[in-house]
Amino acid sequence: VGIGGRKGSRNSPTVFNAVLSFRQFWDGRAGSLHQQASGPIENGDEMSGDWANILFTLATDADLIAHFERAYPLRGLGKMTVVDAIATFEASLLTPDAPFDKFLLGDTTALSVQQKRGLDRFVDLGCSSCHQGRAVGGNMYQTFGLMVPRPMDDLGRFDVTGDKADLHMFKVPSLRNVELTAPYLHDGSVASLRRTIRIMARHQLGRQLSTDEVDDLEAFLLALTAPQPKLLASGGVSP
Ligand code: HEC
Repeated sequence: VGIGGRKGSRNSPTVFNAVLSFRQFWDGRAGSLHQQASGPIENGDEMSGDWANILFTLATDADLIAHFERAYPLRGLGKMTVVDAIATFEASLLTPDAPFDKFLLGDTTALSVQQKRGLDRFVDLGCSSCHQGRAVGGNMYQTFGLMVPRPMDDLGRFDVTGDKADLHMFKVPSLRNVELTAPYLHDGSVASLRRTIRIMARHQLGRQLSTDEVDDLEAFLLALTAPQPKLLASGGVSP
């Protein structure tokens, strides 16, 4: 929810592991965290800020000016360096220690028997044809409703390109920490992970899943939850 209680039209993605995505936003309209970072600051429904005002306010903090002069000797505090600082901070928000990471590094006990079965299903059913790579997603666009069309208002990437082939095309989201990032989908319309799994199977793979299959897939997805970085009271990330 943004300024004045205004709501954007899409579900806010987590910033954890955002740097691993090939593009930013559900429709991929930003090519980097830098390009993304100034968006919410200026967006009328989010923070509705104007840079003259922001820089004027920040410049009243002598410590902050000193930090910026140390970090950016040539430029000091300015729009470009504020955006760079935010993007650099975001790029540090990685959660690489999920049980699945440990498993991939050779600890075969890091996943339960059910989670291993879930991994097999994830691969055999074809989830991993879209959700793949370091972030288990975040490296391609796909049509939502590929096998069975799904009614939705959002035109997806079509809004960016105007190309009919991009209708209802979205960035495949990363599934890291998906246990913690409800509600799901670009419109945040689904609260339950199990239901999201069923929707995926139906609309992306044309499959109706049994309860066992959903149980196993859910168990595997929970293996993508990493211990979260501890945020210090000062707002910094602990080393
Ligand atoms: C053809 C590509 C494709 C396949 C196959 C696919 N997905 Fe997805 N998945 C997507 C796309 C695209 C989205 C985003 C949809 C949207 O909200 O617009 C998504 C979203 C999700 C989400 C919601 C994530 C979030 O943060 O909102 C989950 C969970 C998920 N998929 C799990 C699965 C599972 C489990 C399977 C296998 C049963 C699967 N997916 C198969 C493309 C795919």
